Amino acid sequence: MELHIGCIPGDGIGPEIVGEARKVLDRVAEKFGHTIQYTEILLGGASIDVHGVPLTEEAIEAAKSSDAVLMGSIGGDANTSPWYKLPPQKRPEAGLLAIRKALGLFANLRPAVLYDELAGACPLKEEISKAGFDMMIMRELTGGLYFGERKTTVENGVRTAVDTLTYNENEIRRIAIKAFDIAMKRRKKVTSVDKANVLDSSRLWRDVVNEVAKDYPQVELSHMLVDNCAMQLVKDPAQFDVILTENMFGDILSDEASMVTGSIGMLASASLNDTSFGLYEPSHGSAPDIAGKDIANPIATILSASMMLRYSFDLSAEADAVDNAVKQVLKDGYRTSDIMSEGCKKVGCREMGTLLAERI
Ligand code: NAD
Ligand code: IPM
Ligand code: MN
Repeated sequence: MELHIGCIPGDGIGPEIVGEARKVLDRVAEKFGHTIQYTEILLGGASIDVHGVPLTEEAIEAAKSSDAVLMGSIGGDANTSPWYKLPPQKRPEAGLLAIRKALGLFANLRPAVLYDELAGACPLKEEISKAGFDMMIMRELTGGLYFGERKTTVENGVRTAVDTLTYNENEIRRIAIKAFDIAMKRRKKVTSVDKANVLDSSRLWRDVVNEVAKDYPQVELSHMLVDNCAMQLVKDPAQFDVILTENMFGDILSDEASMVTGSIGMLASASLNDTSFGLYEPSHGSAPDIAGKDIANPIATILSASMMLRYSFDLSAEADAVDNAVKQVLKDGYRTSDIMSEGCKKVGCREMGTLLAERI
């Protein structure tokens, strides 16, 4: 098979982790007899440096003409990077939000799994980490607060900032359907997370999710308030199968869930629309504090590449090979510094990529 992959190295550790994901993908292609064509796409700070804007029409077109896009991460240190002297709509993050919108990527899948080998890196009590967990966070990605109107005004010398949070029922329905479809292939449990005790948008969310649930009688649905969910994620993560939630809640809860897997460097993600196209990126950011040091954990990006093989190319044997390589490398005791524990062998980003490619 010929795979046309758009490739966004991005900023900070982005080029390092994408380089390792490509190493693994190239090994998969060699082993399974595929060919891969990569098209490099600029986004975020890397695009600002060349074009003065974080996303160009050309980049959107290049992404659209690929079968799928693999991305590192974008952004810089807001205190030191010149990108943050630009107006907000010209900063790196605006480019990421805009490309998600332009490609219609409304469903963000963030699987949080505690590997047995990483139980020691999980910061929770042993009796909780021993039980393990395997959840899929379904985050709505193109609506809500991050896409609402916003403005800052000054009246009588007082500054006021407004951000608006809007959802229509169609936006809620399509992500809910995706969540229930995915739950049907898992343990058939959906926890919809909202703030329906305060927000109108959450009350609509709850109503629409209840309507969708009628078409999935085998799926057990429950609703949970987001503040409680944040607490339950560290109290008893094993209770969750699919967490369905809106954009900002999903952003925050997925970072929290990532840490109980051992490190944010482990959390993959897939951003999907209703076609086989997808954008695959780790859930973490560009980690400017460790960029260029060859210490970033590339596993989240490599697991994102595995999701790409599974969801965009329907290559499940190939995706399994990548997932098994990750399990094997952890079993063999190799760790990047973020997941390091006693008795393990510490390796850098490049070596981790090589060790994984060798296990395909
Ligand atoms: P971050 O996720 O980049 O980093 C948070 C902490 O986690 C840092 O200490 C970092 O070193 C560590 N970390 C992250 N990824 C790691 C990895 N693979 N291996 C080891 N350690 C890792 O979040 P932040 O510091 O809040 O944001 C930095 C920049 O990234 C900002 O400009 C932000 O806007 C951007 N960002 C981008 C994305 C994205 O591209 N999808 C996501 C989140 C943040
Ligand atoms: C993420 C990031 C982005 C988001 C930022 C960088 C715009 O935090 O992918 O989780 O909030 O979606
Ligand atoms: Mn985030």
